[in-house]
Amino acid sequence: MRNLGRMAFGGDYNPEQWPRETWADDLRLMRRAGVTMMTVGVFSWALLEPREDDYDFGWLDDVLDGLHGAGIAIDLATATASPPPWLTTAHPEILPVTADGTRLWPGGRQSWCPSSDVFRAHAVRLVDRMATRYGDHPGLALWHVGNEFGAHNAHCYCDVSAAAFRGWLRERYGRLTALNDAWGTAFWSQRYSDWEQILPPRQAPAIGNPTQALDFRRFSSDALLAHYRAERDVLRRHTPDVPVTTNFMAMWAQKDLDYWSWASEVDIVTNDHYLRAGDEDAHVELALSADISRGLAGGDTWLLMEHSTSAVNWQPRNVAKQPGEMLRNSMQHVARGSDGAMFFQWRASRAGAEKYHSALVPHAGEDTSTFREVCDLGAALAALAPLVGAAVQADVALVFDWQAWWACDAPAHPTVDLGYYDTVLAVYTACWHAGVTVDVVAPGAPLTDYDVVLVPTLHLVTDDAATVIAERVAAGATALITCFSGIVDEHDHVRLGGYPGAFRELVGVVVEEFHPLRRAEAVTLDDGSRARVWTERVRLRGAEAVAHFTDGPVPQGPAVTRAGHGEGSAWYLATQLDQPHLDGLVQRVLDEAGVQPVLPRDGTAPPAGVEAVRRVALDGSVYCVVINHTEQAVPLNVDGHDLLREEDVRAGDALAAGAVMVVRT
Ligand code: GAL
Repeated sequence: MRNLGRMAFGGDYNPEQWPRETWADDLRLMRRAGVTMMTVGVFSWALLEPREDDYDFGWLDDVLDGLHGAGIAIDLATATASPPPWLTTAHPEILPVTADGTRLWPGGRQSWCPSSDVFRAHAVRLVDRMATRYGDHPGLALWHVGNEFGAHNAHCYCDVSAAAFRGWLRERYGRLTALNDAWGTAFWSQRYSDWEQILPPRQAPAIGNPTQALDFRRFSSDALLAHYRAERDVLRRHTPDVPVTTNFMAMWAQKDLDYWSWASEVDIVTNDHYLRAGDEDAHVELALSADISRGLAGGDTWLLMEHSTSAVNWQPRNVAKQPGEMLRNSMQHVARGSDGAMFFQWRASRAGAEKYHSALVPHAGEDTSTFREVCDLGAALAALAPLVGAAVQADVALVFDWQAWWACDAPAHPTVDLGYYDTVLAVYTACWHAGVTVDVVAPGAPLTDYDVVLVPTLHLVTDDAATVIAERVAAGATALITCFSGIVDEHDHVRLGGYPGAFRELVGVVVEEFHPLRRAEAVTLDDGSRARVWTERVRLRGAEAVAHFTDGPVPQGPAVTRAGHGEGSAWYLATQLDQPHLDGLVQRVLDEAGVQPVLPRDGTAPPAGVEAVRRVALDGSVYCVVINHTEQAVPLNVDGHDLLREEDVRAGDALAAGAVMVVRT
């Protein structure tokens, strides 16, 4: 995307929902808004191939030529996200089946089984036609395979999937005894004597085998990845120089794909993000999602492929954005490495299931505050062209993993209240409050660049990944590991000898028993902190207790510990602290390692609610993106030139309430 030479700005464009007269108006408004890239064709299969192997590309030719004529780059979808009715009518066997055996009907979208050869053959044929027709189109900047793989059809339990699952398991385990051992099938009379007896984890009268469920998640992610690869490989054959992507959903609402295994399969990481409307601090979760995206890109730049100008339509209560919020959200993504801000969608639909979803052009048209803000955003992004390709600076690593998420949130655990993503978010939030930028890394990734390593609730971890963390600490880093980490290996088997298993030696404690709390129950610590959800019986084995529980199930037991390990130290948190107290603990860890906030403090704490991230451009220029999420003007300790207002700023100048600055320092 560096070839674009400017920030990508635009969104999903679905002109097929509109009469042709509207198309000219679309181009006029796109020019007015400063749109630079549009995503076309995501759900167009039924119009592009109205009957089997019979194509109607004429309308799409006109759309692409129109966009190119207006100077707008094209992110062209393969159009395979949703099968057309003729396909599901002729081949109902491609429809996905749920765990209870129900075959889902067409009529929504993405109604296809990830393991279906029939679906794949039809999809790949269309991709071949698309690439043949448009591979040389001068406006083509990027291929967009499918859409949000895993949305709606992440898991299919049909017989075709069952056979594919068995094939995947044979590859993984080789021998049936290895599978029986890994799945712990001595339990509940589950021992298999033939591969053919193995099924996906279909609905059973009692809780199913957890390792079977975990492997089915791994298999399902791989099955979709195989489909993505099949489409991508067609594109690469036709157009080896055009980058290929598919839009990820690395965020709170989606945990079904192991994106660490997907990341290297795309030429540029693209991500979709939508605010969790019920969360007043949803912009902090946004920041986490953006940092995960950068992690998937291996620290390189990436692209926000979708977010919303205002409300979505698929949450229980869809909160509309306040004035300025769209700009702040967009700039958060840009601050954290996105080379642009794209949206779903260009023009709000009149019909269909998403008609109440916001868009760049709302139902009320161009004379609206939304469209004026869209134009302002276009101008802001145009001014930020020097940031394209600039690297984000971070000092802290946070180890994050989808497989740990799956294992942590599995049923039949000590409590339903210890959710993986929200636990990660709480630790991340503490860094956000501290004004420190976090790199999200995969378990096992090298940690040599980091003085602080955060390991929130990494329930499932391999011995090798745990060793990388321990070695980094031994070499001088400070780690913070939180409860329910290190407990199980890759087969979801508990490590014996005391929790937290893989990290027991590193943190210098042995946990004998978990003591989860009742709903709404809280405990206090002797440093004044308050905690909920979880406590445990901790015995010191080389660590010192930094704080103890004063009440709850284990009064006087250690709650926060610290152990020296080689040149570094490892902190352990045996409970879930309330956010202000977790902030305090994380700040101690950061202070111990000498990690400074992005905005220099000068004796005063960075203002709460002000986000600052540094990007270093290819020419060495340093840009500080500062976003004021508060309702007050705040003085900032930054000198330089603000690209958005085209004026110099000096330390002590105020950033207005809700405003953004991008300062070349
Ligand atoms: C995304 C999807 C879009 C649209 C959007 C609505 O998940 O890719 O097609 O449905 O959500 O928020």
